[in-house]
Amino acid sequence: MTIQAVRGTRDILPDEIPAWHRIEAAARDLLARYGYREIRTPVFEETELFARGIGVETDIVSKEMYTFADRDGGSLTLRPEATAGIVRAVIEHNLMNADPALKVYALGPMFRRERPQKGRYRQFHQLDVEAFGFTSPTIDAEVIELALAYLDACGVTEHELVLNSVGDRHCRPAYVERLRAALRDRAPSMCADCRRRADTNPLRVLDCKVPEDQATIETLPRITDHLCDACADHFAEVRRQLELLGVPYRLSHRLVRGLDYYVRTTFEVTSTALGAQSSVLGGGRYDGLVKDLGGPDVAGIGFAVGLERLALLVPAGDGAPRCDVFLVPLAKAALDRALRLQRELRQAGLRAMLDPEGRSFKSRMKQADKLGARFVAIMGDDEIARGAWTVRDMARSEQQDVPEERVLDHLKEKANG
Ligand code: HAM
Repeated sequence: MTIQAVRGTRDILPDEIPAWHRIEAAARDLLARYGYREIRTPVFEETELFARGIGVETDIVSKEMYTFADRDGGSLTLRPEATAGIVRAVIEHNLMNADPALKVYALGPMFRRERPQKGRYRQFHQLDVEAFGFTSPTIDAEVIELALAYLDACGVTEHELVLNSVGDRHCRPAYVERLRAALRDRAPSMCADCRRRADTNPLRVLDCKVPEDQATIETLPRITDHLCDACADHFAEVRRQLELLGVPYRLSHRLVRGLDYYVRTTFEVTSTALGAQSSVLGGGRYDGLVKDLGGPDVAGIGFAVGLERLALLVPAGDGAPRCDVFLVPLAKAALDRALRLQRELRQAGLRAMLDPEGRSFKSRMKQADKLGARFVAIMGDDEIARGAWTVRDMARSEQQDVPEERVLDHLKEKANG
C-alpha cells in the first residue's frame, strides 16, 4: 500500500505555484501600501488560547480543533485561525507600546477538522490582516476596502461583499435573549443543529442553511433592529464611508460568523464561482478580545482570506517560460564548455539549463520546448571546430553563429533585451 496525503490535506504542486506566488506577492505589495508589516507566529499554541479567544461554544473549538497532549501533560492545538495567536503575540511582546496603531499581517497554514469538500480542507492557508488600536469607523471602511482591493490585485472580479453589525457587549446580550425567546416555540420544528443552538448559541441559528428552516429564520428578530445608539451610529458611518469610497455591499442581518469574538462590523466576501464553500474571506471588529486574553483594552479589526479558495478564482497564468537558455552540447568536449557557460549564465541571473543525461538531440529539443526556453545554444563537432555556438532564438525561429568568447554577453543582451 502506498501512503497518501492525509484526508483533507492537499499538495500544492509546482504547476499551481505561480498562482500562489502571485497571490503572496500581491499581498506583500498591497499591504505595505496600507501600512501593514508582516508577523509570523507558531502553528501551534496552548489549547486554552483558542478556547478563550474563539469561544468554547463555536464549531471550531467544540469539534474542529486538532488538539493533542504534549509529553509534559500540557494541551496544545494546531491553530485553526491566526487572530488569537497574533493577539497573544501582541500582548506578550507589548507591541502596542511601541506602536499604538499597529497593523500586521500573516500568511500561513491553518488546521480545522471539517468535512473535506471542494474549497474546504483540514489544512488550508490564510492571509490574515489585523489592525489594533483603532476605534473609528474609518478603519472598518479602510479594512473592508483593502480586502476588496486585494481581490482586485489578484485579478478576481466576480464577488459580493456582505455586511452586518452584530452589536456589542451593551446591546447584543439583550438581543440574544430576545432571539432565544423567539426560538423557544420555533426551534422544536427546526433541524437538529438549530434545536441545539437555540439554547447554546442562538446567534448561530441565523447561519443555518437547511432549506426547510429558512422561512422560520426570516421571522426571527433582527440584530440590526436592536443595536444600541453607539453601535447603530458606528455602523451607519461605516456604510457611509464605503459608499464614499465606491465600495458596493449587500446588508445581511444573518451574517453572524463562526467565531465569538466579533462585535459591531462583520463582513464576508463570497463568490458564486466557488460553489458551496462560497466565502473567500471573512472578518470583522473584535474590540475586547485583547483585554479578554490579558492585554490592554485596545480595539481590533481584521479579516482572513482563504488562499486555496482565492487560488481557484485567480485567472490562469500565461504559463511564463521557465528557461531563458537551454544548452545542447552534442560532443563530450562540448559538455565541459556547456557546464561552464551554464554556471556563468546562472551567475548573470539567467535561467540556464541542460540535460545532464545527454539524451538524443530530438528529445533535448523537446525538453527545451516544454520548458518554454527562449534560446537554445547548440555545440556539436562542427561548432567545436569553428569555436562557436549555434544560438537559436525560439520565438523568431532564427539562428546564428556566436563565437565562444562572445556567447555569454550575447545571451545576456538577448535575454534581457
Ligand atoms: P473565517 O471566516 O473562519 O475567519 O476564515 C476566513 C476564511 O478562511 C474563509 O472565508 C475561507 O476562505 C477560509 N477557510 C476557513 N476554513 C477553511 C477550510 N476548512 N478550508 C479552506 N478554507 C477555509 C477567520 O479565520 C478569522 N480569524 C478572520 C479574522 C481575522 N477576523 C478578524 N481578523
